[in-house]
Amino acid sequence: MCGIVAAVGTDNVLPILMEGLKRLEYRGYDSAGVALVQAPGRLGRAREVGKVAALEQALVAAPLTGMTGIAHTRWATHGKPSQDNAHPHMSGRVAVVHNGIIENHLALRAELMADGFVFTSETDTEVMAHLVERELQRSDSLLQAVERAVARLEGAYALGVIDAEAPDRVIGARQGSPLVVGVGDHGCYLGSDPLALLSVTDRFIYLEDGDLVVVNQGGCTVHGLAPDGTRQEVVREVMRFEHDDLAVGKGEFAHYMLKEIHEQPVAVANALEGRLGADRVLIEALGPQARELLADTRQVHIVACGTSYHAGLVARYWIEELAGVPCQVEIASEYRYRQVVAPPGTLFLALSQSGETADTLAALRHARRRQGDDAYIGSLAVCNVPGSSLVRESDLSLMTHAGPEIGVASTKAFTTQLTALMLVTLALRQVRGGDPELTARLVHRLRYLPTLLGDAVALDEEIRGIADGLASHRHALFLGRGSQMPIAMEGALKLKEISYIHAEAYAAGELKHGPLALIDETMPVVALAPMDDVREKLNSNLQEVRARGGELLVFADPESGVVAGEGVTVVNVPACCHYLAPIVYTVPLQLLAYYVAVARDTDVDQPRNLAKSVTVE
Ligand code: F6R
Repeated sequence: MCGIVAAVGTDNVLPILMEGLKRLEYRGYDSAGVALVQAPGRLGRAREVGKVAALEQALVAAPLTGMTGIAHTRWATHGKPSQDNAHPHMSGRVAVVHNGIIENHLALRAELMADGFVFTSETDTEVMAHLVERELQRSDSLLQAVERAVARLEGAYALGVIDAEAPDRVIGARQGSPLVVGVGDHGCYLGSDPLALLSVTDRFIYLEDGDLVVVNQGGCTVHGLAPDGTRQEVVREVMRFEHDDLAVGKGEFAHYMLKEIHEQPVAVANALEGRLGADRVLIEALGPQARELLADTRQVHIVACGTSYHAGLVARYWIEELAGVPCQVEIASEYRYRQVVAPPGTLFLALSQSGETADTLAALRHARRRQGDDAYIGSLAVCNVPGSSLVRESDLSLMTHAGPEIGVASTKAFTTQLTALMLVTLALRQVRGGDPELTARLVHRLRYLPTLLGDAVALDEEIRGIADGLASHRHALFLGRGSQMPIAMEGALKLKEISYIHAEAYAAGELKHGPLALIDETMPVVALAPMDDVREKLNSNLQEVRARGGELLVFADPESGVVAGEGVTVVNVPACCHYLAPIVYTVPLQLLAYYVAVARDTDVDQPRNLAKSVTVE
């Protein structure tokens, strides 16, 4: 979603703010802006519609300098992308940047207008600027004014506030939207994501809901909210963000997405690192309470959104077949709003790359509230971002170690999630005393998985060669069976989100129950044909497509028996066992979507209307 950066330094902080915005641009990108205290009593602001580069150009033409500033990239929620709606929003001496949604903004707007405040945008955020300006007139400090202003807000927010009359500080506030403090040697910073600040520090404080923070050159002071509503200064741990800063750049690749596809062998090796014994999964490596929690688990509820939801769907096949544990998978935005029956012994498993997805977090909180009533025995987060809300609020977390994922379309986060979910599956199997021979075989194959993924990535050239054929179509169907069905869904999602081609996935057996009517020579059909028990049935489904003139592109095991011919293109995927095949077959589908998008000249890393990390409902 939107991104926040703020800085108080010993020199002009504009370069730090702009670098932060560039690093955050993947989160939201319809407009960007910056405000600095240029001199005591004087604020300077620049805002532009479009990408950060447009703001950068504007600042070349009309430079701003200051040692205290806030900046923002916006993904529109209230009001269209326009200069007026771009953040920072100002009211007199105050400027504000905001992520999240202020739900009672209409009532506050009416109240402030009645008080004589003039609104210049359609955003919910502008109420905050006016609220702080009003409170400043009756407060002793900027902190007190912000504290009083946020007390009026309903909804979710991460905020950065500056005051021209208090040029040495930025006030931050967090409620429901992520915000971190970066502690540097030459200043102190705020960011909605640590990634924004990695060029200046690797030490972070993860603020908690209700926190207010005063950031100044020498450090910060956090004021926590006690359950009784009083505020007191609190000490929050400073954590080191382990990272390889190079991982944040594009390197030799044209796009982050391509780089992240190619990183998958290493990312999956990292996800396995330290978690496999000679012939079993090291359950202790999943966390101190993991063995007990998994042993008590009677069923699993997996909850996630988008690509992460697809990973959950694959895991259901594994968990039921390999661990014999009933498993239900649901989209978080549905799960949280219905009366879910969670029988005693339910493990709530939340899957999220970012760990900040609003619906997934809300579903977790909903489950945790019911933890005492005997239904949910605990929560496990499978997540890529250490210190994220999901990780902090779950009983147990299993990090996927994919490294920073910048491309909006999720790639390595997905394959590492699948890898982590296979570890959870095998751990569930082990604590239930499942046949150790099969466990040992799968552990051995998992060790070989990074190599297989390397072979799958090597299909790059071949897939680039066939992508043009798909790029001219307006629709596509994806077919899979069994645990490849969610991979077909993921392939269709990748294609639609970055190439804007309409794509749907079907279980191949469902074809003749309706979608077959769509098939003619204008409807390309992408199918997944690994070596599994249903390959003969899949072959019959493919014949049904061919008989109606549909063009087939089949990603197939070399032994699958699918033969290339007129109207049938076959790409051989490295041979692999059917349990791990969903992970391996994902890679060619990502490459296909990528090269089709490149052929259509879309904005691959930042597709229209989308944003990374959906922190609003
Ligand atoms: C698609 C994609 C999204 C995310 C979804 C959930 O490529 O990235 O569908 O998977 O928004 O995000 P996380 O996993 O961060 O909860």
